[in-house]
Amino acid sequence: MGGARPGILVLGAGGHGKAVLDLLLAAGAFDPAGVVDAVPRVAAVLGVPVLGNEALLPALRARGIAAAHPAVGDNVQRLAAAARLGAAGFALPALVHPAAILGRGAVLGDGVAVMARAVIGPEARLGRLVLVNTGAIVEHDCIVEDGAHIAPGAVLAGGVRVGAGAMVGAGAVIRPGIVVGAGAMVAAGTAVVADVPAGATVAGVPARPLPQSAR
Ligand SMILES: CC(C)(COP(=O)(O)OP(=O)(O)OC[C@H]1O[C@@H](n2cnc3c(N)ncnc32)[C@H](O)[C@@H]1OP(=O)(O)O)[C@@H](O)C(=O)NCCC(=O)NCCS
Repeated sequence: MGGARPGILVLGAGGHGKAVLDLLLAAGAFDPAGVVDAVPRVAAVLGVPVLGNEALLPALRARGIAAAHPAVGDNVQRLAAAARLGAAGFALPALVHPAAILGRGAVLGDGVAVMARAVIGPEARLGRLVLVNTGAIVEHDCIVEDGAHIAPGAVLAGGVRVGAGAMVGAGAVIRPGIVVGAGAMVAAGTAVVADVPAGATVAGVPARPLPQSAR
């Protein structure tokens, strides 16, 4: 260590790990100290070394790296990874790409990632470990609960509520004030015009239920 910026560890060397490192390198608030992965397959991601697997977590924490990020796209796996990082003593700061826009009064929970060109409207609230992906829009007064993922280019109009662990697929559009239940899946490109029950999968324009077998 010894640099002016605090170090941060990235858990996950896959595609989302690469996007998170791109965010960190652009933002400059943290110094990416390395990447760990369940099964390391590459030596480095964007020039940041892959140090090994999660067995290294205690040693890396002891070395003085105090912050980490679970860079895993899957909601269930991201929450599990965050729990392992927390148990190893890492703090999970919210990360915001410098090309994202945060409205006045927006609230971000621990471990949130707001990727490039995303917009979080005024007084929107993101729970812990929410992922707002590239170019997504979470309009004013939306509430996105813990561990949900708003995929690239999705649009939540004003006052939408997305339940814990739900996934809103790429390019989906959700009408104002709609409630998407916990653990629901909104397929890519869907237009959501009515509330989505918890755990349901919906697809199409307008949204219709997809059988659970198609998840
Ligand atoms: C909804 C989803 C999870 C279904 O995946 P799946 O279980 O592999 O389903 P399949 O591709 O086998 O498709 C099952 C049926 O649903 C339909 N379907 C799948 N995705 C659809 C979509 N986005 N819109 C409309 N219909 C869709 C298929 O046409 C198929 O219909 P059929 O049975 O009449 O042929 C997936 O298509 C999806 O949209 N995932 C979101 C991906 C995303 O945005 N990721 C972002 C990563 S950053």
